[in-house]
Amino acid sequence: MSEKWRAFNPEILPMPFAVMDYELAQPIKEILTTLISNSDAGYLGKIPELPVALSQFAQLRWQWKVEPSQVKIAPDVGVGVIEIARLLINPGEKILINTPVYYNFYNWIKELRCEVVDAPLKEENLHYSLDLIEIEKCYQAGVKLHILCNPHNPVGSLYSKSDLQQLAELAMRYHVIILSDEIHAPLVYSENTFTPFLSVSDTAKEVGFAFLSATKAFNIAGLKCAQIVAQSEKNLATLNSIPTAVHSRASLFGAVASAVAYKDCHDWLNAVIRELDSSRYYLKELIEQTNLPVGYRVPDCSYFGWLDLRGAHLSGDIAQHFLDKGKIAIAPGNFYGPTGAGFIRINFATSRELIHDAMTRITKALT
Ligand SMILES: Cc1ncc(COP(=O)(O)O)c(C=O)c1O
Repeated sequence: MSEKWRAFNPEILPMPFAVMDYELAQPIKEILTTLISNSDAGYLGKIPELPVALSQFAQLRWQWKVEPSQVKIAPDVGVGVIEIARLLINPGEKILINTPVYYNFYNWIKELRCEVVDAPLKEENLHYSLDLIEIEKCYQAGVKLHILCNPHNPVGSLYSKSDLQQLAELAMRYHVIILSDEIHAPLVYSENTFTPFLSVSDTAKEVGFAFLSATKAFNIAGLKCAQIVAQSEKNLATLNSIPTAVHSRASLFGAVASAVAYKDCHDWLNAVIRELDSSRYYLKELIEQTNLPVGYRVPDCSYFGWLDLRGAHLSGDIAQHFLDKGKIAIAPGNFYGPTGAGFIRINFATSRELIHDAMTRITKALT
């Protein structure tokens, strides 16, 4: 059993993990079953079909032109970011993030022995955007790398093309490299547009690297595989100088399943997005029925409910409060940086029955 089902006692509803409770896509099941039935579980070697499949997926979904030769494989996004960062930064130097943001950004920066600098997202009625003025101040103050979460976990926002273009210009002016974590990109709802950072301008290509993966959207995180993309001569030279072991430390299962996911699982992905689309509104309906002081903006992407409980004035260990009073595990907002305090993140990529159960337990914990 994976982490979600081992972390808590069975009476606790586990809602903090970034995985979906849906059946895997049939082509992924088939390719994995074939490997297993052939007792073929060896090391990952050459797999040219994966960069080709990613390139076709990026063109089809985001009209982003990626050459297969611009793609390298890594065991996961975290390893990819760390391996690229190691080539660009020394311990003690500054890395910028925009909180509230995926908590492992803090862990990656710690692993690099670098210093975290934060330019929090601007928030207006739960609409979040980049604070370009604050970002420029941080760049001026000596930031070397900026880890961007595009699209954004946990707040479920997308950045505009114009903001990303301006960000690229700032990065060029202050010699900052942007590492754009785009793992949630395939899970964008149909009324919205995901903008790959490297696609916004030639400047973005000069200052950026992108980190993609099929593992979030196709629910195969345990299989371990991600892709790194560079699209300028200089950044491609950096990408090509990562240790060759970064490729072979990815898993055979992850790489094979990712190629199939990008190539053959569009219908499954579209069906999942439709299901999540209805669930994000179902969660809104349930929240409105509670009459509790819970703020929620229907997200633009992915499957997180970023619930604003600032009006509930909870104090102390919020996660423990929900475990004790509601028998539900949630991710407390302060995991995502100081600007997340007063929020919780839950995952609605599950059945309606469990979304309902989650809201019943949250209500119990708040009353
Ligand atoms: C923004 C973001 N980046 C990275 C990851 C983890 O990716 P990986 O397991 O490939 O390191 C997650 C997982 O939820 C995430 O939300």
